Amino acid sequence: MMKLGVNIDHVATVREARMSTYPDPVEAAMDCIDAGCDSIVCHLREDRRHIKDDDVWRLREVVKTRLNLEMSIAKDIVEIACKVRPEQATLVPEKRRELTTEGGLDVVKYSGKIAEVIKKFNEKKIETSLFINPSKIQIDASKKAGASIIELHTGGYADARTEQARLKELDKIKRSVEYAISLGLEVNAGHGLNYANVGDVAMIKGINELNIGHSIIARAVIVGMCQAVEEMIGLIE
Ligand code: PXP
Repeated sequence: MMKLGVNIDHVATVREARMSTYPDPVEAAMDCIDAGCDSIVCHLREDRRHIKDDDVWRLREVVKTRLNLEMSIAKDIVEIACKVRPEQATLVPEKRRELTTEGGLDVVKYSGKIAEVIKKFNEKKIETSLFINPSKIQIDASKKAGASIIELHTGGYADARTEQARLKELDKIKRSVEYAISLGLEVNAGHGLNYANVGDVAMIKGINELNIGHSIIARAVIVGMCQAVEEMIGLIE
């Protein structure tokens, strides 16, 4: 069955809105795991706008399934990841002023740096996933850089304004999944997925895991974390 990774960044966003000590993303992560999700994702941003170093360390202590640390390739963040040793690190591009991760990583442009980080993480037994746009050039570059996992950016699909554009983006994802699998890569997908649009992506054969954050945390405000995760798992099934 297709897996679900829940990104709990926005629990910390609510906490940071008042610079308080609650809600605690670690408590939320434990509820997500109880509800049956397969991994916990958090993004330690360079500006630490939501998740803090202490959150990552506390998550490392309690997450026994799979901790997926989303991160840029900045040197100090790579050093932290090497110490924390999550099961998986997902490399993403990062701009300070963006609202959220806007596009995929340009693996062609930064191939040398990315290959270096992957090598370092391999030595620490951290699996590396590269968050890329669904394009053949980026998939080829990811394979060449030594990645074993890619995560396809589904933002183009989620943001499509017309049915024609939505189907075109969906087809791009499908073809990218097939191509990446033919190269022996494990394929995940995520960004912008919600309770209304997840179904079509969940039907694509070959995707290992969907990583979903904002919509689940938003739903949890209304129905609670466990129910929000259970509902999403139900839709993926
Ligand atoms: N995957 C990656 C690599 C991301 O950067 C994000 C956003 O933090 C997500 C998945 C989840 O996106 P969303 O919050 O839109 O569900």
